[in-house]
Amino acid sequence: MRKMLLILTVLLVPAVAGAQGMMHHMMKDVKDERTVLNFPPEMKVVQKKMMREHMATVAAIVSLIAEGKLEEAGSLAKEKLGTNPEDIKRCSKMAKMAGEPDFLELGMAMHENADELAEHARMEHRKATLKSLGELINSCNACHERYRH
Ligand code: HEC
Repeated sequence: MRKMLLILTVLLVPAVAGAQGMMHHMMKDVKDERTVLNFPPEMKVVQKKMMREHMATVAAIVSLIAEGKLEEAGSLAKEKLGTNPEDIKRCSKMAKMAGEPDFLELGMAMHENADELAEHARMEHRKATLKSLGELINSCNACHERYRH
């Protein structure tokens, strides 16, 4: 038993210390280069809630495509993520609030990708719908690369 403990100590302590050292080394020069959005705290709460809903919508779209319910997937994409007048208004208000015109552009690109997905889904083109889904997710990523709270 004691021997086991000794072996464990001899092997594990340097391993853990080494890993910590490595993490430390990895994090030494880490900087978040993204632009911080000038939103009041309440706006951040609202936006993040909206974002979590977007993620839930993307998950629902994936499930519907898997079940072969392309039309439903398309309607959902159009309704929740597409270029609806209220969403565009909200997006441009947020961009103005932050003083970041690119925010609107990136938001619009996402909404337009959702329209495109909806169109392919409506025509029951499964492959094209999935390709659009990849593009849609990348338009989420593009904004996340550029901005943060
Ligand atoms: C125009 C910009 C923009 C677009 C487009 C965008 N997001 Fe975001 N998203 C943000 C910002 C800003 C944050 C906050 C990041 C932070 O906390 O610093 C965020 C955060 C999130 C979060 C984390 C929420 C939380 O509770 O912390 C999720 C999930 C998310 N986005 C999902 C999505 C999905 C899915 C899409 C596409 C369908 C999307 N976003 C499109 C700007 C965007």
